[in-house]
Amino acid sequence: MSFLRKLIFVIVILLSVVCIHLIQVVKEFTTPEKPDIKLEWWSRGDEWNEDQSIFPFKINVSDEVLNDLKYRLEHTRTPRKPLENSNCIQGLKIHFIHVKPQNISKNIKVIPLLIVHGWPGSLREFYEIIPILTTPRHDRNFVFEVIAPHIPGFVFSDAPSKPGLGALEISLIFKNLMSRLGFEKYYIQGGDIGAAILQAMSTNFEDNVLGYHSNLCELLKLIITESGYLHIHSSKPDSLGLSMDDSPMGLAAYYLEKFVTGANFDYRSRQDGRLNETFGYDKLLDNIMLYWISKSATTSFRFYSETFNAKKFTAILWWPIHVPTACARFKYDVIVPNEVLSDNFRNLVQVNNYDGGHFAAFQFPEILANDIFSAISKMEIINNRRLKYFIPSSGPYSQTSEIFC
Ligand SMILES: *[C@@H]1O[C@H](CO)[C@@H](O)[C@H](O)[C@H]1NC(C)=O
Ligand SMILES: *[C@@H]1O[C@H](CO)[C@@H](O)[C@H](O)[C@H]1NC(C)=O
Ligand SMILES: *[C@@H]1O[C@H](CO)[C@@H](O)[C@H](O)[C@H]1NC(C)=O
Repeated sequence: MSFLRKLIFVIVILLSVVCIHLIQVVKEFTTPEKPDIKLEWWSRGDEWNEDQSIFPFKINVSDEVLNDLKYRLEHTRTPRKPLENSNCIQGLKIHFIHVKPQNISKNIKVIPLLIVHGWPGSLREFYEIIPILTTPRHDRNFVFEVIAPHIPGFVFSDAPSKPGLGALEISLIFKNLMSRLGFEKYYIQGGDIGAAILQAMSTNFEDNVLGYHSNLCELLKLIITESGYLHIHSSKPDSLGLSMDDSPMGLAAYYLEKFVTGANFDYRSRQDGRLNETFGYDKLLDNIMLYWISKSATTSFRFYSETFNAKKFTAILWWPIHVPTACARFKYDVIVPNEVLSDNFRNLVQVNNYDGGHFAAFQFPEILANDIFSAISKMEIINNRRLKYFIPSSGPYSQTSEIFC
């Protein structure tokens, strides 16, 4: 061995020894101390009046408990069955709201806008924003005609009779619904799982979608970070769904918790979750009642397992969107918005940040509506340069209608 080799050898050995020593030192400093388990009194009051006796115990269930159980089992509510023989759109009846603006002057353009709700929301999310979207405003030469469907399996829209209906498949159903109503070109808007359907529409039906306005652009992050319920819905929707459809208390607790977190993470520490202040109990109970009377908790959870599975997931999230897109980002959404948006949006016309949470339409209809008007006026300029697309709105519905097709 040459001197140099020997030297290198010795240096390597020395370095290793130093490294090992350093690791031990670091470990010593970083190993947490054993927690101190305090002797505490876990019952009411703070009396240390312990009864030291040990006595036999026999399970003894009262007739009252057994009779109540019997009653509940006899009155179990199973999720609803699909209706037989409805064949409106690809075999499913779709429930939707269709609102045309009233009494508008001839120089105001009427633009069709499809808006899609999420979970645990429903069309109740849109009762406040629809009148704003369909009322002309002095600084815009257009106003919206709104079409808002319930997603299949949600509330009054039919659930499928067989597996496989996820966001991708529903995107085609909604395209066909719009077509049935006479709209071949239109704008689309939504957040939460509505955004999954609308992203699929944007990539698959570029000829129909004039522009996409989203209040959940970072769908992928939602799936990774706020994930507990997503895992359950995506893997075992029926296990949870059966209890939700059978218990009004369970349904209310599970759904209301989402509105607390969705409004602002910090509200979770408040006993009332600030629900009455942020949304109002009446609006929230309206929304839960829609799920209860339609028995659609289970069928709504199935949306996740049919959408966020390995086979389809990437098809929705990773395809670039070329239609004009706008993002309204709300600070307290279940994901924390990044400065850099997904590079999936190749034609981003507007990005705005707001104070507010996940349920933008429900909580801040005015802010969201302003953002939609602003984004779509920009998209209109882009679209009018390219094509003459507008289809005059016509149809049997002259005012706010809630209809089945
Ligand atoms: C079980 O409890 C009831 C009252 O709830 C009582 O009448 C009965 O004697 C108890 N039976 C046994 C075996 O302890
Ligand atoms: C329609 O608008 C005009 C002027 O803007 C108003 O005078 C009229 O009362 C409105 N009609 C209805 C039915 O709202
Ligand atoms: C909820 O808020 C409304 C309106 O602010 C109020 O009238 C009502 O009393 C509140 N309800 C409860 C239970 O606090």
